[in-house]
Amino acid sequence: MIVINKVNELEKAVDALKHEGKSIGLVPTMGALHEGHLSLVERCRKENDVVVVSVFVNPTQFNNKEDLRTYPRTEEADKKLLQCAGCDIVFMPTVEEIYPEPDNRIFNLGRVAEVMEGAMRPGHFNGVAQIVSKLFMMVKPDRAYFGEKDFQQIAVIRQMVKTEGFNLQIVPCPIVREADGLAKSSRNVRLSGEARNAAPRIYRTLHESIEFAKSHTVDETIKFVTDTINSQQPLMEVEYYQIVDGLSMMPVSSWDESNYIVGCITVYCGGVRLIDNIAYKK
Ligand code: PAF
Repeated sequence: MIVINKVNELEKAVDALKHEGKSIGLVPTMGALHEGHLSLVERCRKENDVVVVSVFVNPTQFNNKEDLRTYPRTEEADKKLLQCAGCDIVFMPTVEEIYPEPDNRIFNLGRVAEVMEGAMRPGHFNGVAQIVSKLFMMVKPDRAYFGEKDFQQIAVIRQMVKTEGFNLQIVPCPIVREADGLAKSSRNVRLSGEARNAAPRIYRTLHESIEFAKSHTVDETIKFVTDTINSQQPLMEVEYYQIVDGLSMMPVSSWDESNYIVGCITVYCGGVRLIDNIAYKK
């Protein structure tokens, strides 16, 4: 595995590999790697000749300075994990390397980027589009791998790929969970003991809601999930729970409105913002 910090070195390396006819897979990450990320690397390894993983905490997608400042950074451990996972090139640039001047691009991401995370974190998805588009231009991957925990992010990236005319395949990969159901996330390390014990209730409730939904309306299911988790207040507080079409991200009002229906949740758990989702129809 080689570690590259400079954009021109990355471009040179991937251009040479592409010239040899090698297929390139990209796994964009912000580091603090866990088994969720490693499952993306594993899938990428199976489907491509060359595996490129980027590790970059992208400042333009944080709309909260404190969140950016305290985002976990574990570069040495990340390199070791990537080496074992079969990564070929790890790209670890500085902020100055990626943004030698401010990126003022405003992406036309449409309505998929306006609801849920888009409404709660203004500018977040534009920042994601900025870094992901830069990575796509540098690496020119055949495939790029994203975890379904950030479910809406995948829809937004698909939209960006369409409007910017990138020619690659976006590969969504299933959520990896702890044994107790909590979705793996770099932010889980911020949970206090009490919050960590409570957090599995999020997935448990989502899972229970699948059965509930069979005999209840969409609105009743939203209320069931929200009330069940909020019964743990003040430790747990739902920011939103929305049941949406899995492609357009638009809320559905009945179960027969789409063939792909997903519930997306954000919960403050002991002050830590956790997200998760579950498919009702797929
Ligand atoms: O999902 C993430 O970790 C980030 O949003 C991404 C896609 C690596 C862009 O910084």
